This record gives sequence, structure tokens and C-alpha cells, in this order.
Amino acid sequence: MKTLTLNDGHCIPQVGLGTWQSQPGEVERAVTHALEVGYRHIDCAWIYGNEKEVGVGLKEAIDRGVCRRDEVFITSKLWNNAHGEPQFTRSLDESLKGLGIEQLDLYLIHWPVAFVGKVTMPKKFDQYLSREQSPLPDTWALMEAAQQAGKVRSIGVSNFAAHHIEEVIGNGTVPPAVNQVECHPYFSQRPLLDACARHNIPLTAYSPLGSSDASGKRAAKGIASVMADPVVLGIAETHGCSVAQILIAWAVQRGTIVIPKSANPERIAQNFAAGEMELAALEMQAIDNLERGLRYIDGTFFCGDNSPYDLAELWGN
Ligand SMILES: NC(=O)c1ccc[n+]([C@@H]2O[C@H](COP(=O)([O-])OP(=O)(O)OC[C@H]3O[C@@H](n4cnc5c(N)ncnc54)[C@H](OP(=O)(O)O)[C@@H]3O)[C@@H](O)[C@H]2O)c1
Repeated sequence: MKTLTLNDGHCIPQVGLGTWQSQPGEVERAVTHALEVGYRHIDCAWIYGNEKEVGVGLKEAIDRGVCRRDEVFITSKLWNNAHGEPQFTRSLDESLKGLGIEQLDLYLIHWPVAFVGKVTMPKKFDQYLSREQSPLPDTWALMEAAQQAGKVRSIGVSNFAAHHIEEVIGNGTVPPAVNQVECHPYFSQRPLLDACARHNIPLTAYSPLGSSDASGKRAAKGIASVMADPVVLGIAETHGCSVAQILIAWAVQRGTIVIPKSANPERIAQNFAAGEMELAALEMQAIDNLERGLRYIDGTFFCGDNSPYDLAELWGN
């Protein structure tokens, strides 16, 4: 199992299990099975609404002697409605309790976007908190305090553009250990990868297979699926493996952390095995060349007339 050393000295396994849209009732088995086949990294979030069930799967594996708690890297994320106190501490404690653990290995600010407490998805302007009302450095200070209190080992961010990273680093005392963002061959994040590398911050690639979200609707709108890409299909045929495995192997080989989601036992196992594959330099190059600026999770749901946020500020372009 390949690992990366973070800028705070802790190690993170490069392939982890995603849990977004893994339903309660299936996610328990997915987590236990993932740990059985060798995963030691599980990606969670308060907003996924299934941390309690992830905790059940983790406990089952520990009770059966599959792994020890200290061998598993567990990430959770602070939702947008808890950027200030008292919601921050309440939300972190809920994640810890749900997962049934004393300390998170990594805690991320889920988005550089803030909502009024108790609002999980705003519908009106006044349900948001603007950047001025909820400055990112203030939220980062709470992350640093949680780290100092020992509730979380590493702290990082998610969906942050380079200017958000600079703002946090310029005002904080600890740099983010990770930036988790959408990343796959159609949106390879080369500029952000380079900007973060200057601070020794690796990217965690989410939606590495093109995302589970609304794939049917996307197909209806004619939005290309990276899983159907002919170049990737050709490379998969050469290796006698699945397209998903090539996408995961590419992500690992270019130095990102990657967290494919699956609730299917066979796919969970094959995705993990992909972390040990080797692609030739020409194959890596051919996949790099597929970049087409296509974000599947485009952030429009947090922007527009009913929000103080806009896409240019959100993504920094
Ligand atoms: N920080 C953020 O804002 C953010 C946003 C999105 C996602 N994430 C994290 O990243 C994780 C992964 O992203 P994602 O869930 O959007 O999508 P993804 O991992 O790109 O794709 C998941 C989809 O691919 C299918 N799949 C998995 N392995 C496969 C294989 N070997 N062959 C064919 N199909 C396969 C899954 O179905 P089955 O389950 O049926 O296998 C599911 O429909 C999430 O679960 C979450 O933990 C974070």
C-alpha cells in the first residue's frame, strides 16, 4: 500500500474508500469489506449522513481483528453550517461520536462557503454567511484549536482555490495538510496541483471516476463521461483491467491521494488493487492529454442571485 507523508509528518494511504452516497444499510458492509481487502483509509463527512454506519463497519472490522484503529486513516469534513462556534465544536463532536472514535486522522473544511447554523442547504440569500461575515481565517483558527486539543491529528481543506489557500496560510500558524478537490483526466487540476505543491500540500482527488452524482442526468445533457473515454478504454484493454483501475492508477502515479467510492464488494477490491499498478510514461502522457476543463461538481449550487458567492471567487478564475 503506497503512502504519502504530509507536511505535518503524518502518513496517509494514497488509496482510500469514498463514502458519499453509500447508503446506511450498505456502507457498513462496504467499510468492513474494504478493510478486509486492505484499505486503511476511509473518507467521510458530516453531510454524508452515514458516519454512524461507517463507524459500525469500522468497529466490526476491529472487533474481528482485521485491523487496529491506529492503522486506519479516517477523514471527516466540517459542513458549511458550522464555520463558527458553537456549531464548530458540536459538529466535530457529532462526527467523532458517529464514527465511534476519539480522534480524527484528518479534518477538512468541506467548502470555502458558509451557511447560517442549522441550514444544511440554503434556498435564500440570508441563509448564507458572506466571506466578510464568516472569514476563512477564523474557521481555520478553530481547526488549529481542534488540532491542539487533540481531537484531530491533521487539518486540511477541500474545494479550496489557490487564493483561499494563500489566505489561510497568510493568517494561520499551521498550513493545510491536504486540499481535497475534484480531479480526474477531464479535470486534472494541473495549476492547483502546482500551486499547492509550493506549500507541500498534496491534492486528494475526489470523484476520480467522474462522480456518482446524477450520472444519468449528465448523460441526458450530453456531458462526457470519463469512464467512457476511448483512450482510457484502450489503455485498460492493454492492461487487461477495468477503466476505473486505470483512472485510479493514473491518480496514484501522478502523486495524488485518491478516494473512489464503491459499495460493491468486487469493485471495492479492484479499486484498491489499482493502487499497485504501473502505467508506462506514454500512457500517463496520453491520459494527461485528455484534460478538457470539465468539472462534474461545478459549485453552481452555492452561487447565483440567491447567494453572496459567485463562481469566479469560488474557483479563482
Ligand atoms: N470534498 C468534496 O466536496 C467531495 C465531493 C465529492 C466526493 N467526495 C469524496 O470522494 C469520493 C468519491 O467521489 P464520488 O463518490 O463523487 O465518485 P467516484 O468515486 O468518482 O465514482 C463513484 C461511482 O463509480 C462507481 N464505481 C466505483 N468503482 C467502480 C468500478 N471499479 N467500476 C465501475 N464503476 C465503479 C460507483 O458505483 P458502486 O458504488 O455501485 O460501485 C459510483 O457510482 C466520495 O464518495 C466522497 O468520499 C468529496
